[in-house]
Amino acid sequence: MDMKGLQLSLSVPNQASSPANPDRAQEPRPATQETLAPGALLLRGIAAAFVPILLDDLARIVAEAPLRHMKTPSGLRMSVAMSNCGPLGWISDRAGYRYSALDPDRGRPWPPLPASFLQLAQSAAAQAGFPDFVPDACLINRYAPGAKLSLHQDKDERDFSAPIVSVSLGLPAVFLLGGLRRADRPSRHLLQHGDVVVFGGPSRLRYHGILPIQAADITAHPQLENIRINLTLRKAR
Ligand code: SIN
Ligand code: FE2
Repeated sequence: MDMKGLQLSLSVPNQASSPANPDRAQEPRPATQETLAPGALLLRGIAAAFVPILLDDLARIVAEAPLRHMKTPSGLRMSVAMSNCGPLGWISDRAGYRYSALDPDRGRPWPPLPASFLQLAQSAAAQAGFPDFVPDACLINRYAPGAKLSLHQDKDERDFSAPIVSVSLGLPAVFLLGGLRRADRPSRHLLQHGDVVVFGGPSRLRYHGILPIQAADITAHPQLENIRINLTLRKAR
């Protein structure tokens, strides 16, 4: 895999922070898990062993289906750049939020869901008590410093008995986990490179979001300088 190509396709130019210092690379952390709410589990570090293959597969996917800033139904440009892989992809435009088998920018199917994504998602889901999880959609979110995701529910899927599996790579993020009503005050959780959150069962429809990402001078991975990548695997149909 051409590292330069991946860097170019995944990363965004850095205006804010100093260049990566290899002496300050993130230390490996012991795998620990924390229950955030009934049905919502944070599995720290469990994606770490998958990172090389995830990034390799990701580079191929975004070379084929480039990351893009979609528009909200009200016409605002989303700060997070998105793409998808798998039989279905989540899209947003003036017509609303929905799943589509075709990438609207290319008029072609999304790239297939790689075995690495599937294995990690199924392993995480099984650890969280969802042994039968078979995702058919993976949303890829790329956050540059300043990008955020407002509180929302994942409710464009047909079957809420399947959980959401959410993989964090690169820059850390503050994850907001709210309740079933928008007004419920969210708790805050730090998500770091290699962490996976699974939320299902009674937490499946909890509001959640990401606070604006901050640049850091500690680089989790040389191919993820100044960006955060989130992979969100779902069963849409
Ligand atoms: C999402 O809710 O789609 C993404 C959450 C995240 O970036 O961790
Ligand atoms: Fe979400």
